Amino acid sequence: MKKIKNITCIGAGYVGGPTMSVIAQKNPDIKVTVVDLNAARIAAWNHEDLSKLPVYEPGLDEVVKEARGRNLFFSTDVDRAIDEADMIFISVNTPTKTYGKGKGQAADLKYIELCARQIARVAKNDKIVVEKSTLPVRTAEALKSILHNTGNGVKFHILSNPEFLAEGTAIQDLHHPDRVLIGGENPEAIQTLVDIYAVWVPKENIITTNLWSSELSKLVANAFLAQRVSSINAISELCEVTGADVNEVAYAIGKDSRIGPKFLKASVGFGGSCFQKDILNLVYIARSYNLNKVADYWEQVIIMNDHQKERFADKIIKTLYNTVNGKNIAFLGWAFKKDTNDTRESAAIYVADHLLEEEAFITVYDPKVSAEQIYADLDYLGTRSPEENRRLVKVVNDPYEACQQAHAVAVLTEWDEFKTYDWQRIYDNMYKPAFVFDGRNILDKSVLENIGLVYQGIGK
Ligand code: UDX
Ligand code: UDX
Repeated sequence: MKKIKNITCIGAGYVGGPTMSVIAQKNPDIKVTVVDLNAARIAAWNHEDLSKLPVYEPGLDEVVKEARGRNLFFSTDVDRAIDEADMIFISVNTPTKTYGKGKGQAADLKYIELCARQIARVAKNDKIVVEKSTLPVRTAEALKSILHNTGNGVKFHILSNPEFLAEGTAIQDLHHPDRVLIGGENPEAIQTLVDIYAVWVPKENIITTNLWSSELSKLVANAFLAQRVSSINAISELCEVTGADVNEVAYAIGKDSRIGPKFLKASVGFGGSCFQKDILNLVYIARSYNLNKVADYWEQVIIMNDHQKERFADKIIKTLYNTVNGKNIAFLGWAFKKDTNDTRESAAIYVADHLLEEEAFITVYDPKVSAEQIYADLDYLGTRSPEENRRLVKVVNDPYEACQQAHAVAVLTEWDEFKTYDWQRIYDNMYKPAFVFDGRNILDKSVLENIGLVYQGIGK
């Protein structure tokens, strides 16, 4: 198989953008073109001012600066990029279906299929098609069937190359991955992709498997990670009633090398575009094979996570004398984790929704999330009218303004800057008693209590 000279990636999102930027950075002799239907997104990727890139990731600007215009290009001309490419990554979104069979659980593969049809229509020479999007197991079968029946004699090899990067540390994860996983049937096609990664990833960290193992491994990795968070969150509730401290429990169990210390932080609940979607997918697949016990087992991870978000909101209401009606709650953080502007499935959205149902006023400050995004997240729920959301929720650019005249402050995201605030100043401008609900256990309880704040963390 000839050496790859041109790579195209369809989908310039949180996955496609950073991944292709690093592949281009590390392979200066390969031309990498990232295309997207969304012209505004492409324009943002091409913005001269690197702080305007559509995805915020520490270190991404440096990578883009090095490669963009040299061998990294962002474009809306999808047909041309497909035509030129020897290898095409599909990195479009696969949201949970909101209609029809599998609604609320199965992945909506309509964009993947559209991509496959477009590739089939445009391609004039043989190509390797790489699934980068997280997909239900055996999606490659559908891709194959569409691509192999074009009737124009073009040959396609299909590979699965799931992404394991975590947002906020995407560049670090791409530069030093624990492993790269490549699944496929054709050894030569697999090798061409191995060669691209082997430029910077040690060979022993590049795992090759069959297609189905690769597809399934991605879902299982996310399900295991999410399960750890739900497990420690379940224990956090038990800690609150028994007098144990969840941080101490997590530390104590994490010291067992078989358990390990990572992913044991109790929180207001996990969010992000992947965990919930991938588990729902796993549950859907299991049920579709009638493996109901398996499905129930994994579904419990989601049930626990929903409970944790609701429990946090309920705790605020209960502590504020059973009513938040007309009270001001300051939200510090809206992103689903620190160091990202991504808000998909963020716990903050659901906690806010719950408090708004009780007619609270919320003022949000997040260092990276725009007001537009916050309102879009709330409107998307469809719980109340957009006008009502704008009446009840205010978004500000200054954390002290957010906490001004608040009855309670709730920490929803673990942004480092929250720890460095002048909490005396915040306390002075709040209603008394002044409550702090730390959904991430990042603030120093004794410091806050000495100031006079009433502090409640998770699992203590
Ligand atoms: C997405 C999926 O959510 C994830 O499961 C998968 O692993 C990778 O792709 P992400 O990059 O975070 O993750 O999604 P998103 O930021 O929504 O980016 C997808 C992009 O694809 C969007 O910019 C969208 O405009 C684009 N797109 C979608 C196309 O260009 N063509 C399409 O037909 C559909
Ligand atoms: C995840 C996987 O980690 C990554 O490998 C995959 O490619 C995509 O999905 P991501 O969703 O970006 O990445 O972030 P992650 O760091 O996994 O956090 C997910 C959620 O879990 C966040 O809301 C985070 O705050 C929460 N979390 C994580 C906890 O509440 N406690 C923890 O100990 C760890």
